[in-house]
Amino acid sequence: MKGIILAGGTGSRLYPLTVAVNKQLLPVYDKPMIYYPLSILMLAGIREILVITNPEEQYLYKRLLGDGSQWGLSIRYASQEAPNGLAEAFIIGEDFIDGDSVCLILGDNIYHGHQLSELLRRSASLESGAVVFGYRVNNPERYGVVSFNDTGEPVSIEEKPEHPGSSYAVTGIYFYDSKVVSYAKSIKPSARNELEITDINNIYLRNGELKVEILSRGVAWLDMGTPELLLEASLYIMTLEKRLNCQICSPDEIAYVKHYIDADQLRRIAAEYGNSDYGRYLTELAGSRK
Ligand code: G1P
Repeated sequence: MKGIILAGGTGSRLYPLTVAVNKQLLPVYDKPMIYYPLSILMLAGIREILVITNPEEQYLYKRLLGDGSQWGLSIRYASQEAPNGLAEAFIIGEDFIDGDSVCLILGDNIYHGHQLSELLRRSASLESGAVVFGYRVNNPERYGVVSFNDTGEPVSIEEKPEHPGSSYAVTGIYFYDSKVVSYAKSIKPSARNELEITDINNIYLRNGELKVEILSRGVAWLDMGTPELLLEASLYIMTLEKRLNCQICSPDEIAYVKHYIDADQLRRIAAEYGNSDYGRYLTELAGSRK
């Protein structure tokens, strides 16, 4: 399975924070935001990744993530010229996907919690159809919302409904078989003039090929569209990292733990980060398993 991180957009709800810096480069406590979705793809076992950005800011993402080889990954880049919707990612990424299955993750989504890696790996191993995650929220009208019948089967998904049929938001990670590319080409822009991911999910749903995995209370899903949410995410990460004395969503650590890189490679990365707490953490990690 291939992976796509969608890291475009203007981040207008975060202005003036995002006037000069693209949203997915902003700090979430001690790491750039995009490290979190990147880590999630890595935990799913995905190593070929396309990062879709605005054309103007792509060089910054390249400076940050490079070609991915420092983490044993292959990272490529593509541009989204205008905010034409999430589903355009599959049209932009058609050559990259190249008939494979694909996972799309939004660049401002954080997932953390119990048994998440196992769920990610299982979802990434899909042969056909699609898997999305449902999450109970207080404000479903802000999201794609999935409704269920009496036996708990998903029956419809609505984008930002005025009167949500349930409290379950569809979160910002999506696993699809290769049919997603032709589905993306078949849909028309919505009233807000975007190719909606919800329309793609509804095609899979109508075909009886959509699995909705409900994320348990042991999993935190955070998105960072507003200053409050950005701060909350930073505080969440800071609290857990300090208390658990570990890094959450460090691509360096994950690459090492997954044996994509060895201790010497990790030490070299740590040396580049000098005296930061992050650098010290990686140095210790590399030393602990000589
Ligand atoms: C998008 C999707 C929506 C989904 C949400 C998750 O919303 O359109 O279905 O629930 O991401 O973060 P947007 O961020 O474009 O408002």
